[in-house]
Amino acid sequence: MIDLTRPVVVLTGAGISAESGVPTFRGAGGLWRSYRASDLATPQAFRSDPRLVWEFYEWRREVISACQPNVAHTTLAMMEQCLADFTLITQNVDGLHQRAGSLNILTLHGDIWRVRCTACAYNAVDTRVPLPELPPRCPTCDGLLRPDVIWFGEQLPGTVLEKAWMAAARAGLMLVVGTSALVQPAASLPLVARRNGAVIVELNSEQTPLTPFADIHLHGSAGEHLPQWWRSVQSG
Ligand code: OAD
Repeated sequence: MIDLTRPVVVLTGAGISAESGVPTFRGAGGLWRSYRASDLATPQAFRSDPRLVWEFYEWRREVISACQPNVAHTTLAMMEQCLADFTLITQNVDGLHQRAGSLNILTLHGDIWRVRCTACAYNAVDTRVPLPELPPRCPTCDGLLRPDVIWFGEQLPGTVLEKAWMAAARAGLMLVVGTSALVQPAASLPLVARRNGAVIVELNSEQTPLTPFADIHLHGSAGEHLPQWWRSVQSG
């Protein structure tokens, strides 16, 4: 069933960071003040009230800065060390996979620890919490800086998406951890893998639209089930 000599691809969502204390988007705790992420993570919201959008991201950066990668993140980093052909595709912007030691990561939705200028090509890592001023200004042209993340309605960077699509198409195994499988194009990646003959393993504390297409559904928390599953697969 599972052949680890073939390419292994993992797709993660906010659920893998839940046990680290990072709020998911659609579960309980996904609200900030009375807003959902979909109200604020948009170009329109930023145009009309950049300070409010930055206050939302400042809150998320503050929460995430106090979080540590959990055993699910570190298990994926170990898998990468053991496997000849491993690709991690994440929808998360929290940077916890990087801190856990994962290396070959395709970040579909960007990185909350990077900022980019809306008026020039300035783009940099800025991990200061709190930021000195909201909204932050560009040190090069004094333009408005924005979080370097993908907002609703925005296109994903072509190269990242193409690499993710290609990785899914050649996968022998796709492990999908902690995503509601509702947001495109990420939600299509497991179906691309399945169409090309991959075994689909879904790990989620709930059922999702992907569940009917999964060969194996591990029902429960990533922190508990991912290490267990990886040990069982290794021992054959
Ligand atoms: P969601 O909040 O939509 O879904 C989180 C998923 O994780 C749900 O299916 C939960 O059942 C599951 N879950 C929660 N805790 C878990 C745990 N401890 N172990 C395993 N599973 C758990 O987050 P995403 O699917 O990542 O987009 O959302 C996708 C995108 O929608 C995000 O990247 C973001 C959001 O808008 C952008 O920011 C562009």
